[in-house]
Amino acid sequence: MDRFSILVGDITKSDAQAIVNAANTTLLGGSGVDGAIHRSAGPGLLAECRTLGGCETGRAKLTGGYDLPARYVLHTPGPIWRGGDQGEAALLASCYRSCLELAEARGVETVDFPSISTGVYGYPLAQAAAVALKAIMDFLRDHALPRRVRMVCHTERAAEVYRQTYNMLYAGEKAERL
Ligand code: APR
Repeated sequence: MDRFSILVGDITKSDAQAIVNAANTTLLGGSGVDGAIHRSAGPGLLAECRTLGGCETGRAKLTGGYDLPARYVLHTPGPIWRGGDQGEAALLASCYRSCLELAEARGVETVDFPSISTGVYGYPLAQAAAVALKAIMDFLRDHALPRRVRMVCHTERAAEVYRQTYNMLYAGEKAERL
């Protein structure tokens, strides 16, 4: 599907209309991509986040992008990996779906995601990739907006895992079309 792609980069540099922040439930910043986004966005982002009253795991809230190139930030707290039998997969899928639903509702056309929960929150990368890709592809199949979604991996290794997972899940589709 040409509406989705995988790339290596720093999501704070993204020119997508909205970038997603792998946040925590306080929405008051942190380390990882959360820290990078807040550093690049400047103090206005935290000031707006303070007015939101936090966010439940698996849900998403939208703010302005402030000093970021992106116009909006979609904040979503991913699940903390606790071995895989505490509903982590469903919560992670909900993060992607909630962000896409919010983007569609606000008419956002381009959304870039980081690999939610696969850093500090310890979600195994290959398992997270399968959940993320299925949630994104299922949404794009049924919705016209966003018209473009990208997975912005911070490392080549992560991007390779996403590409391999994508090919495993969807390469057959291309073959059928041919
Ligand atoms: N651009 C793109 N991806 C990035 C960037 C960046 N600038 N920085 C980190 N990443 C990647 C990590 O390599 C990882 O694959 O984002 C993914 C998510 O990692 P974390 O940022 O650690 O997020 P997560 O695992 O969801 O943990 C969230 O960490 O920062 C705190 O406040 C945050 O408590 C929350 C927790």
